[in-house]
Amino acid sequence: MTAPYFSRVLLLLVGLCCLLPITKTKYEKLYEDPSIDPFQCRKVALTICNASITLFKEMAQLSTNGNILFSPIRVIAAISMLSLGANANLSKHMLEALRLNKTGLPEAEIHKCFRYLLRPIHQSEEIWTLKSYSSVFIHQGLTQVDKFVKGVKDLYHSDTLSINFTHSSRAKTRINNYIMEKSKREIVNIVKNLERDTILAVVNYIILNGLLDLR
Ligand SMILES: *[C@@H]1O[C@H](CO)[C@@H](O)[C@H](O)[C@H]1NC(C)=O
Ligand SMILES: *[C@@H]1O[C@H](CO)[C@@H](O)[C@H](O)[C@H]1NC(C)=O
Ligand SMILES: *[C@@H]1O[C@H](CO)[C@@H](O)[C@H](O)[C@H]1NC(C)=O
Ligand SMILES: *[C@@H]1O[C@H](CO)[C@@H](O)[C@H](O)[C@H]1NC(C)=O
Repeated sequence: MTAPYFSRVLLLLVGLCCLLPITKTKYEKLYEDPSIDPFQCRKVALTICNASITLFKEMAQLSTNGNILFSPIRVIAAISMLSLGANANLSKHMLEALRLNKTGLPEAEIHKCFRYLLRPIHQSEEIWTLKSYSSVFIHQGLTQVDKFVKGVKDLYHSDTLSINFTHSSRAKTRINNYIMEKSKREIVNIVKNLERDTILAVVNYIILNGLLDLR
């Protein structure tokens, strides 16, 4: 049945949006960094919520078996994170495409807000059974911008790995092994195909501990 399923997933989505900081909550206290303004970060959170709904609709159309589990914040964070490594113009366009420029916050503030918003999903043991991660694989021959590598780690709680993409099948194995290790063998063969001239890959993944009743 389509209707109940739709409402269920929307509920889950709304649930996720509600978990984003709206008032000073328990989880907010976990993270007290005076340079981050939670009030300003609400604007980023609301933009993510808006984009989540659009993303969900797109995925629902593509999905054939009904269940969709995704982490909208990780999808959006991945693009915002890549903008750290782009030149000023491109990075501006990337943030515009995500509508993050509409928050009126300077770029550096937007990135800090992601750090703030992603931290509970990534780190806290007790509150969340659902965790999401990002890993960026970059071709060995490329010069990595320090701001990017540092930002990926510190702001987006993600990691960068330098690998050789010359042989795409070897690169694919390398990525799959890495994710398998990181996920303690829960996720195997996450990458099925790697295009021949790939020089950069971002892998987002979710680990859910516990039972979720999605029928
Ligand atoms: C969210 O989307 C609605 C409707 O499209 C729009 O009116 C609103 O300004 C958007 N909010 C943000 C924070 O982007
Ligand atoms: C950035 O964009 C401006 C105006 O669109 C252009 O004049 C400038 O050359 C661009 N800079 C780079 C580095 O692409
Ligand atoms: C954000 O970017 C869009 C698209 O380029 C533009 O139309 C809008 O005026 C920008 N908003 C702000 C506040 O910079
Ligand atoms: C990547 O692998 C190819 C083929 O094995 C090799 O020729 C190339 O030097 C390697 N690139 C780097 C940056 O190590």
